[in-house]
Amino acid sequence: MSSETLRKARDFEARYAPFIPAEQRPAFHVTPTIGWMNDPNGFSFYKGEYHLFYQYHPYSNEWGPMHWGHVKSKDLIRWERLPVALAPDTDYDQGGCFSGGAVELPDGRQMLVYTGVRSRLSPDGRKENLQTQCLAAGDGVNYEKWPGNPVLTEADLPAGGSAVDFRDPKVWKDDDGAYRMVVGNRTPDGSGAVLLFESEDGTSWRRAATLDASRNQYGRMWECPDFFPLDGKQVLLACPQDMSPIGLEFHAGDCTMCLIGSYDPKTHAFRREAVQAVDYGIDFYAPQTLRAPDGRQIMIGWMQNWNTTSWKPYNCRWFGQMSLPRELRIRDGRLIQTPVRELERYRADPVSYRNVLIINNEMHLHGLQGRMVDLTVSVRPAGSGSYSCFRVHVARDGEYDTTIRYKPADSIIKIDRTNSGSNADIVHSRYLQVRPRNGEIKLRLILDRFSLELFVNDGEQAASATIYTRQEANAISFDAVGSVLVDVEKYDLRV
Ligand code: FRU
Repeated sequence: MSSETLRKARDFEARYAPFIPAEQRPAFHVTPTIGWMNDPNGFSFYKGEYHLFYQYHPYSNEWGPMHWGHVKSKDLIRWERLPVALAPDTDYDQGGCFSGGAVELPDGRQMLVYTGVRSRLSPDGRKENLQTQCLAAGDGVNYEKWPGNPVLTEADLPAGGSAVDFRDPKVWKDDDGAYRMVVGNRTPDGSGAVLLFESEDGTSWRRAATLDASRNQYGRMWECPDFFPLDGKQVLLACPQDMSPIGLEFHAGDCTMCLIGSYDPKTHAFRREAVQAVDYGIDFYAPQTLRAPDGRQIMIGWMQNWNTTSWKPYNCRWFGQMSLPRELRIRDGRLIQTPVRELERYRADPVSYRNVLIINNEMHLHGLQGRMVDLTVSVRPAGSGSYSCFRVHVARDGEYDTTIRYKPADSIIKIDRTNSGSNADIVHSRYLQVRPRNGEIKLRLILDRFSLELFVNDGEQAASATIYTRQEANAISFDAVGSVLVDVEKYDLRV
């Protein structure tokens, strides 16, 4: 039975979303049907299709009472819109249906696990938002909230765990038949931790372990955790809030963090061995992964950051995009991310150049332009010459310009959208420490109308940024200080 709140949201979408022209959206990055979107939720494979839900406020381009929007896809590139899946319509989630995951139940239904938020008065009279974990089960379109909700409450927390920072369950089914989920929590020292819960039937849950904790080293509350084996290692993803910067690895504010380590499934002991950022760009947060039927671990993130949401096109009818789904691997102890290979099916009109010599000038190559583009550029010094700086310009016209700059002296890339139309004084550039290979650096750029995703050295690092400029700003060019040789491979993306 769908509630009045859900019906109202579905009617609103059906009535007003058709007014948003398709060409005013990205072609293959997920956007909300209408209104506001944040975190990916319930990223899963169900009955032969990929499902993706998202934090959703259909009624405005601002965050508001959270619903779950819904799309599905056969290939992770072309997405079909489905009606709103969840609305905040019960006493335990009247403050919002916050982030969570999805998994298939033994009876074939799809179960959504989410954080229900409700406000209460604290003992000293302050309004606080109590967070509990809740379930809803359905057929891939319509979902019923579980009569036994909430299934995890403050009674299930370790001593001193915060009941108002207890959110974002990510659920999966293990090979031993048990259901497990990780949930973010705030510890008595004020920082974050990731809790592990398990269940035989998917509906009654018990706490199994605390997998890791910030201890005030990596930010405060850890939001949106995920936990999975990858290439012989175990990966814990979390999004620390209020980070203090650490070199070029972590910037101030909300970050995405990847802990790579080992895991003993018997004792649930996770041992952290390496810590790195997930995405080094401006706009990326709250990623979630799934295990595809062919074994690939695929991650999708919100291509936005809470610190940059004040910049949006005036009066826009949708706001918030997902990143491209990315295949994950571990190589040399680091997280490797590459755009899902399905994207390559949509490549058209190849253009390629080898050994283009650029000496202290700007180079426009025939056939190089566009805002829906898959472009790979490899750069090395020309002969015995050297260079101090190389730049790729994209989404460019007389007024706008987004640049990727590389300086070999310190192996630092700068991604910079300062001249990409923003009138808000927020972050517009980030620096990444990269590792050239035999003096060469390889940059893959994916453009999709309103964004740029950069993959360095076959996915060793990723950096994402939104760009809200007119589509006529579509020139692509290169320049260098010194002399370089450049190889170029470019495709239009026709989705
Ligand atoms: C992360 C987050 C989650 C929460 C959701 C609310 O971006 O703050 O922790 O569930 O957004 O929309």
